[in-house]
Amino acid sequence: MTTSCPSSGPPARNGADCVVLGRLIDFAGDPAAFGAAAVRDLPGGALALKEGRIVWRGAAAGLPAEFGDAPQRDYGRCLVLPGFVDPHIHFPQYRILAAGGRGLLDWLDRFAFPEEQRYADGDHAAAAAEMFLDLLLAHGTTAALVFSTVHEEAADRLFAAAERRGMAVAAGKTLMDRNAPAALRDSAETGLRASERLYARWHGRGRLRYALSPRFAVTSGAAQLAAAGEFLKSYPDALMQTHLSETEEEIAEVVRLFPDCADYTDVYDRFGLLGPASLFAHGVHLSARERGRLGEAGSAVVHCPTSNAFLGSGLFDIGPYSPDGGTGAPRLAVATDIGGGTGYSLPATLGSAYRTAQLRGRRLAPERAFYLATFGNAEALGMEGEIGRLEPGFFADLAVLDPRATPLLAAREALSETLADTLLALMILGDDRIVRASWVAGRQLHPGPG
Ligand code: GUN
Ligand code: ZN
Repeated sequence: MTTSCPSSGPPARNGADCVVLGRLIDFAGDPAAFGAAAVRDLPGGALALKEGRIVWRGAAAGLPAEFGDAPQRDYGRCLVLPGFVDPHIHFPQYRILAAGGRGLLDWLDRFAFPEEQRYADGDHAAAAAEMFLDLLLAHGTTAALVFSTVHEEAADRLFAAAERRGMAVAAGKTLMDRNAPAALRDSAETGLRASERLYARWHGRGRLRYALSPRFAVTSGAAQLAAAGEFLKSYPDALMQTHLSETEEEIAEVVRLFPDCADYTDVYDRFGLLGPASLFAHGVHLSARERGRLGEAGSAVVHCPTSNAFLGSGLFDIGPYSPDGGTGAPRLAVATDIGGGTGYSLPATLGSAYRTAQLRGRRLAPERAFYLATFGNAEALGMEGEIGRLEPGFFADLAVLDPRATPLLAAREALSETLADTLLALMILGDDRIVRASWVAGRQLHPGPG
């Protein structure tokens, strides 16, 4: 499974295990807020890696002598980026892409819930976890926030597979105590206890984190949401993930189920689920009040453009999430939302976000898009100190992209004059073929040997 740079060279006797050469691209912040100063583009760059982390970055011509003996991996004119971070994806839906439903609730009933029932079988979950994580890596994604199923063992199997790869994965067992098949329901009490056990087993173990995962207010009643709020009080370093304001039909159902709440966001707010470690997927139809409240709480809204288009959920407006869109907006993240989403590629997902913005009369600059898929998503997960940038001290999680990966891309790249041109072509034309390699903690995991 692993090709590590030193395996092909002598044992490290020097300051680095390995040196990666290529065109280094990363983002020190949101280019929409900080402008060109936030964009770092270094052709002929070098990264020295040691014990899973970056220990030096700079021009290859200036590589310090202490790293001179380390084995080198030269990616030439390929782009070396921080590995992509997917902040909203469903592991048990890894193969149900392209299942045509009439809308979210119908799609859940006819495709997602039947498939998720298979994860009662731990062996099925274990095999799926291998496939799922390999698919992430094949698309340059090295870290993720993941929904598992209601089954405790399925989450165990996912964490174990992520641990074997050394990936930064945050995940949680789904909580659902109503409006779902009996085989997928827990209760306020059993869901809480299973979440506590999973937290105890996995949170903080290596690079793994626990994310409390109430599916949404349609499938969790008041008692379960209250238990979720209690969990977050007891374990303030856990993440929280759920769905919010994805479709009109879903919103109408939540209003019917929680008539005393001001709006959908208020449902989660009343149970103490808003906070800086909370990520809310979709947020397509949020009001200004809801955005303001989420922003005040420091929460993130996760834009899932391919899913919103596929399920017909609506056109997300990035306008309010721009620095000039008014203060107080929540943090913005971008995700695939597999299996409602239509592909694992974050660059292609950015292409979908770009098209959605165009349809809303907005513009998503390619540099901002790639910032979101790397450092921006890492910030939303609270992992901005360890992933998302090519910086000494950060984990050596890398996505190596070839802007000339196909004949069409090569011909298009010949016309590119700026980094923005190159990135936009990758967003609009790219898929897994653009991923030359994925590295996790200093090891090349994709492509594997053979
Ligand atoms: N809302 C509640 N569950 C889901 C899910 O599995 N996928 C999507 N896209 N939305 C949801
Ligand atoms: Zn989702």
